[in-house]
This record gives sequence, C-alpha cells and structure tokens, in this order.
Amino acid sequence: MVEKILITAALPYINNVPHMGHIVGSHLPADIQYRHAIATGKDAIFIGGSDQHGTPAVMAAKQLGVETQDLVDKLHEVHKKVYAKLNIAYTNYSNTANPNHHQFVQEFFETIHRKGFTSTEKRDMYYCENEQMFLPDRYVIGTCPTCNYEAANADQCEECATVLSTGDLIDPTCYSCGEESHFKETEHVMIQLGQLTDTIDSWVESNKDNWRPHVYSEAKRWINEGLKSRSITRDMDWGVKVPLEGFNDKVFYVWFDALLGYASFTQELGQEVFESYWKNPDAQIMHFLGKDNVPFHTIFWTGMLQAHGELNLPSSIIGYNYLNFEGQKFSKSKGVGVFCSNLLTSDINIDSLRSYLTTVLPENRDSDFKWDSYQAVTNNELLGKIGNFFNRTLNFTWKNFNGNLNGATTNPQDMADISLVSKIHEMPGKISTLFEQSKFRDAYKLVLEYASEGNRYLERKSPWKTIKTNPEKAKHALYLALQLAKSLTIVANPILPETMNQVWTEQLGLEGTPGDAGRWAEATKLNLPSNHPIHQPTHLYEKITDERLEQLRTELSKPHSLEQIVKE
Ligand code: 2FM
Ligand code: ZN
Repeated sequence: MVEKILITAALPYINNVPHMGHIVGSHLPADIQYRHAIATGKDAIFIGGSDQHGTPAVMAAKQLGVETQDLVDKLHEVHKKVYAKLNIAYTNYSNTANPNHHQFVQEFFETIHRKGFTSTEKRDMYYCENEQMFLPDRYVIGTCPTCNYEAANADQCEECATVLSTGDLIDPTCYSCGEESHFKETEHVMIQLGQLTDTIDSWVESNKDNWRPHVYSEAKRWINEGLKSRSITRDMDWGVKVPLEGFNDKVFYVWFDALLGYASFTQELGQEVFESYWKNPDAQIMHFLGKDNVPFHTIFWTGMLQAHGELNLPSSIIGYNYLNFEGQKFSKSKGVGVFCSNLLTSDINIDSLRSYLTTVLPENRDSDFKWDSYQAVTNNELLGKIGNFFNRTLNFTWKNFNGNLNGATTNPQDMADISLVSKIHEMPGKISTLFEQSKFRDAYKLVLEYASEGNRYLERKSPWKTIKTNPEKAKHALYLALQLAKSLTIVANPILPETMNQVWTEQLGLEGTPGDAGRWAEATKLNLPSNHPIHQPTHLYEKITDERLEQLRTELSKPHSLEQIVKE
C-alpha cells in the first residue's frame, strides 16, 4: 500500500512580508520533506496558505490608514510569490479568506458545540475606554509574569513563549493609544480543553519518542499547568463569523480558524482527496512550525480535533527554534534581517540560499543567519563539493569524449571502483533515512559527503592525467563518476531542486525530473548506458566574492515599506 502523507507548513500571518525566520521555521523544511516523500514514492501533498485573520493585520492596516482587506490581499500575493521564488512546491497555497474555509470552520464549530465541548462564559476582557472597544490580545501589551519581558502580548510572550490568559499580564496598556487598559464584561464561547486533559495527555505521551525534546516538554508544560477552558471567540468583526445565536457579532479566535486551514485547504483539492488524508486512519499528517506555534499545535489543535472526533490527529509535530540574524533578533522595525520581498527582484542563486539555510535550520536550538557563513557554505561546500564534482565529471566527458562514453564499463577488480559502487548502493538509503526523520541538516551533510566521495574518486583516478597515456582508463573512470552524478542529482534534489533539475535535463539529458514520483529507487542503480549522450555542461554555482557578498547583503536587507507594497 502506498503511504499517504499530508505535509503542512504553519500558515503565516500576512501583516508583513515574510522574513528568513519564517522560511526556516516551516516552509523550507516542509518543502524538503515533501520533495523527499514524493521521490520515495509516497502519495504526498503539501498544504499551506495565508492566515489573513487576527489582529496583527488589522493593526497594520490601521497604522497605514488602509482597508484591512486591501492590505492582506496585497500581502497574500507577495507571500505567494516569495514561496514560489524559493521553489516551495505547495500542492495548494491557499488563504483563510476563502468562503470554503469560513464554512468549514463554522461547521467544525457546530459539531463540537453539538457534542458538548463548548460552553459560554461571561468574563472581563481588556477594554480601552479611550477608543470604546474591547481590545483583542494583540492590542494589549504589558509585562510577562514569567520572564518580565516588557512588551509581551496578552496571549503569549514572544520572549519566553509562555502562553498567557486574560489577566496574566502585568500593567496592561492599549497598544494603539497607550492608555492603561481596564476590564469590562463580555460573553464568549469557550472550548472545554479541561474535559480533554486525559486524552490529550495520553496522546502527547504516546509521541514522546517521536517528537523533538523541546516540542514534548512544551506540550507537557501546558498540560502540567492544567488545561483550562479557552475562549474561541473575539469581539471583532475581522474573521470568521460565529454561527451561534447571541454571538453573531463576534468572530472566531484566529487560532481556532487558522489551524482548520490545514483541513479546509485540503478540501479545496476535492472531497475525495480530503477524506483520503483526514479520515483515512492510515494517512499521516506532518506539521512544520516555529517554536511559538508549538503549544497551539500540540494542545489546542489536538484538543479541537479530539472534541470533533471525525478527523485524523497529526502524526508528527516538527517544531523549529528561532533563527537570529548576525547575532541579533530579526526585527522589522529595526531593519535587522533578510526581508524576502527583496528576493523577488534579486538574482541570487536560490539553491545557494536553500543550501545555506539547510545548514542553519534551527532543529534543536536557535541558530544564526550570517552572511559570511553564507559565503563560506556556498563556496566551500556547495560549489567546492557538489558543483565541483558535476563540473569535473561533465566537462571532462564533454570535452574529451564529445559527451559520450560509449563502451565504458566499471572494473570489478579495481578497489576504487568497488568502493565507489558500494557507496552508490549504500548512501542513498542512509540519506533517505535522515530525510524521513526530518534531520535535514544531517541529510545534507551526507549529501555533501557523497559528492566528496565522487571528488576523491576522480582524484584517485585522475582522468586528466590518464587521458594522455590511456584514454580508455579515463573513460572508465568518468563512466562510474557519471553514474554517481545521476544518483547525486536525485538525493540532492529535495534541497537543491532548481540546479538538480538543470543537471538532470540540460546536462545529463535525462527524461522527467530527479524528483519524480518514485525516482529515489534509481539512485542506487548504475543504469546509465555507457553510450548515453550528455549535453554541454555549464557552471551551476558561482563563487561568492567579497564584492558580490556585499551586494547581496545590501540588496536583501533593504528595509521594505509596507506602504509601497499596498500602493503597488
Ligand atoms: O504564528 C503565526 O504566524 C500563525 N499565523 C501560525 C498559524 S499556524 C496554523 F494555525 F495554521
Ligand atoms: Zn486605546
């Protein structure tokens, strides 16, 4: 039976352009996972989209003096284009604006309401007397009771990731006008997470060995603090309307709505596709997300799903830590970081960026984006190992044998040949296991090691020397190197799709792509016929000189103006 895997990347808020932290925290790793899954013959789809609701977008629009809808429509396009530029191969990148999504959320709510997992509660909420409005969580800032960070939001402290409830914040003030905020009574619909404590806890326990330690401990921290009922409605008009009498003027809490995007965006591909991933007990669901999203996915989301009872729970929750920028936090306001809208007009080699970002994926701890390391990784690893191997093999074959090694074979008695053949048999499997375990940094190290095997082989065989004395010998060495080149193209493709496609089609002259369904099985085979003609090779990567680095640094860190984007 073909394994079915649904891969998701957290839906970004679209109150601004994406920055590198978002890319490494979900889109890129999810894309790598998806590409590997397809190539290894899984029936995989990759779902994501824009989270257009929530207060950040409303706040950003308010500051710019534009309609919220206009702002998010523009930003949705920017996000979509940026992910396309980075070759993030979404099966469906959608938007929580879609009417189907609204209907899905409302029906989901009606089910959990009918099943008795909701209640209503009158509570005091933050209110701004000055503006005569209830203040959504993000409109209230104050001091975090856990770490004393002074600009914590009312629902979560972004410094220490503690999830906060109304009233937890010390000295709350209105974000928009700076007034001290007071409480006023309002009525909300709650989801009764407390009732689900045992089921959620046993599910978290059953995943203890699958999850990264920080994901598990974050989930346990929530459970140990005691799961309380949480309000799933808000006094706002921006969001999905609540279909319950007495609450029609409210909208759903943005997390309640956004998480369901994973399911509703799958449904956009057809009811049959939807059921085959969300209702089929054999299908797996893998969520990729940043650290601050962990409690919402491990507890809130699984609580929602358990209350509903008709959809699959996730099999993996892959949480990423933060990416800093040159030792500092990414900051839009301070202009610290790489702002991805600049990618749209840049000629940076996208695979060089994906390659570098893979080496700094914050898998187990926070990591740092450094332009100097981008230069080093590109020059020494990507170009020095992978580029160099393709270049030497293909160029030499092209120039000395007109791109055709007709009649070449391997030598079953030659130690170097025996050793390289066994690498071709072994390495793709080892690399695949690491991809499967979402250990992408390690997978990439092994891909580089695989290319180095090729380089060592070429050095040992030195066809550039033997060509003068014994051309047949040179031809045999290149023949085996060419088999490795084909195999390397397949295993490097999840990380370097653009250049590996280029090698596959334009240089090796092969049909299809290295990422085609089931292609991985070919990576261990030496099945390129000796008379297979290759095409004229070109360089895949350019050396990053200091001048070029400076140019990229300036170009990609350019502060962007939201105002400009809205007007365009
Ligand atoms: O943190 C964020 O950017 C949220 N918009 C993530 C939502 S993920 C899920 F709910 F879809
Ligand atoms: Zn105010």
